[in-house]
Amino acid sequence: MSTLYTNIDELVTNDATLGDGSPLGIVTDGAIVVEDGRIAWVGPRAQAPDADERLDLDGGAVIPGFVDSHAHLVFAGDRSAEFAARMAGQRYDGGGIATTVSATRSATDEQLAANVGRLADELRRGGVTTFETKSGYGLSTPDEARSLRVAGEFTSETTFLGAHVVPIEYRHDREAYVRLVAGDMLAACRPHARWIDVFCEHSAFDVDETRVILEAGIAAGLTPRLHAGQLGPGDGIRLGVELGAASIDHCTYATDLDIEALASARDTTVATLLPGAEFSTRAEYPAARRFLDAGVTVALATDCNPGSSFTTSMAFCIAVAVRDMKFTAAEALWAATAGGAAALRRDDVGSLAVGKRADFVRLDAPSYIHLAYRPGVPLIRAVLAG
Ligand code: NIG
Ligand code: FE
Repeated sequence: MSTLYTNIDELVTNDATLGDGSPLGIVTDGAIVVEDGRIAWVGPRAQAPDADERLDLDGGAVIPGFVDSHAHLVFAGDRSAEFAARMAGQRYDGGGIATTVSATRSATDEQLAANVGRLADELRRGGVTTFETKSGYGLSTPDEARSLRVAGEFTSETTFLGAHVVPIEYRHDREAYVRLVAGDMLAACRPHARWIDVFCEHSAFDVDETRVILEAGIAAGLTPRLHAGQLGPGDGIRLGVELGAASIDHCTYATDLDIEALASARDTTVATLLPGAEFSTRAEYPAARRFLDAGVTVALATDCNPGSSFTTSMAFCIAVAVRDMKFTAAEALWAATAGGAAALRRDDVGSLAVGKRADFVRLDAPSYIHLAYRPGVPLIRAVLAG
């Protein structure tokens, strides 16, 4: 059964061989044929082949579904008071993670699954068709393993983040916690995870601890991704590049050396920028132009979590990236779709070319530029996933 989606004023494909030849591969007056959940044909409407059924999209813009490559959705509890205190002048240092850990440990599996389900629905309504999510609010072997089991009910992109912070019961013996994460906890989580992540930051894990944990994960068959350079500079970004991480996330305090390393690893390692985190912690945004102009592969993601960035809106992230981080609108859309796919090493999503998954979004707007031009306006009219 094939379906021809037709009457698309502006079709963003992210395939530079199509349409205007830009990285967004924009086809004016485009059409798409979908068969068995995959793109069977894409191009100008005038050249569209026949299909079993035809669906008129009534003008407007169509973009690839967003790929949110960084989120922390498995948690319980509420930290709105912490946000309010921050807006009144308090600093963010990740200390609130302990609050979420105790609420998460007290929640049942069903409550955790309901919470993830609600956020997954929110993501979908906002045009996200692929998302990653991490553990990291359990911080014990059973709580990390069940967090990942629950996450796996909603996405195949699951990340073991036992090394989020050192939990309170290990605060006098962090070495023992690092051993646990790299040993028994990893063994229990390995069957439920694709990725391994560490919060490499002065208030969480130093670069030597990070190396031990990521190397154990690699030996167990997981691929590394990394939180680094969020709260201050350090050696985390270069360690991530050295270990072949798929993505290094935040990078707010990246130095020139870090950016050089990321640029030379552009086919292996993506820099994922998370504007929601700077927005919600009232921090300086990373200087995105330095990354983009150096040729680093850049993704944008929500970092949806109850502490530093409680948003599921990729459209919001795009608006902030364009307004405050000096992305062009085209770079921001690419980063939120193809960039996210690169950060998850997925070649089946993030662009609309023959053979890719038929994941696309019809905007209530004549151009994708409206995602930044009309901040806060619900422009996602319809989401097709597969
Ligand atoms: O990506 N940086 C570490 N983890 C999250 C925040 C976690 C929290 O505050 O609950 C982040 O920003
Ligand atoms: Fe994060």
